[in-house]
This record gives sequence, C-alpha cells and structure tokens, in this order.
Amino acid sequence: MSGLSDQARAKINEYLPRYPSKQAVTLPALHIVQEETRCVSHAAVEQIAKILDLSPAQVHDTASFYGFFRSEDRPLGRQRVWVCRSLPCMLRGGEELLAALAQRWNILPGQTTSDGQITLEVAECLGACDGAPCILINDELSLHVDAETIDQRLEERP
Ligand code: FES
Repeated sequence: MSGLSDQARAKINEYLPRYPSKQAVTLPALHIVQEETRCVSHAAVEQIAKILDLSPAQVHDTASFYGFFRSEDRPLGRQRVWVCRSLPCMLRGGEELLAALAQRWNILPGQTTSDGQITLEVAECLGACDGAPCILINDELSLHVDAETIDQRLEERP
C-alpha cells in the first residue's frame, strides 16, 4: 500500500503550528491517515515519522498502543460500529444487540464483513448510559439501538 496522499500530507502539515512539538502531532496524523485509507500502512508510518522528525518505531509504538489504528493487513470497513459492552448497556439489551449484529454480519468483534462495508468492535462505556444500549458508528453516537433499526441508522450515514 502506498504512503501518504498529498491531501493527508497537507493536513498533517497544517497541524504542526497548532501543537507545542512535532511529536504531539503523531496522534492527529494517524487519525488523518486512517480516516482516509481505513488503515495505517507501513509506508504511512515511515512518512509520518519523517514529517515529525521521529523514528518509524516511535510512530509505530503510538499507533499500536491504543488498539485503535489498523495495520494494512487488517483495514477497517467503511463503517466502524462500536457496541458498548459495559454493564448498563449490556443489561439493557446490548448483549443481545452485539450477538445479533455478529450473526447478521457473520463476523466476530474486531472483524470486517467480506464486502468491506462494516467493522464490528466492542467499546467500554461511551458515557451515555441513559441511552443504553448505545453504539458508535464511526464517531457518531446512537442511543437506544436495537438490531431492527441499526440498518436505517447505518444508511443515514454517508
Ligand atoms: S454503559 Fe454503555 S454508555 Fe455507559
């Protein structure tokens, strides 16, 4: 897989004056790349490191520490669906929701559908327990979700 697009490179460079050090731009840069390519390739890690005056190992350590970024052998689907698995959500239907989605999409948490459309993930409390069960679709929160309405919620997103 190729490295940074011109657009990603420009966005990363735009961040530099806003942060106290180049190293502090590591996480924003990883987000920019993953948003665009659904993963962070080895080539992208090397190029981010070069822009930020870091070693590729330093950027790789940050990328792998959070468990949020995907390497090129496990890219994300177009939609990343996080199901909250903390107790309030699990007690209010989250467990059944997670099981239903895994069965419907024929994947386990952490996996992506074969058509590359959906990656299923589990999350800890999303901070919206009043709306349990909750999910995140990419970075948008959805409350009171059930397996019947999730398709509509997915379609509402670009
Ligand atoms: S337990 Fe699910 S949002 Fe808090």
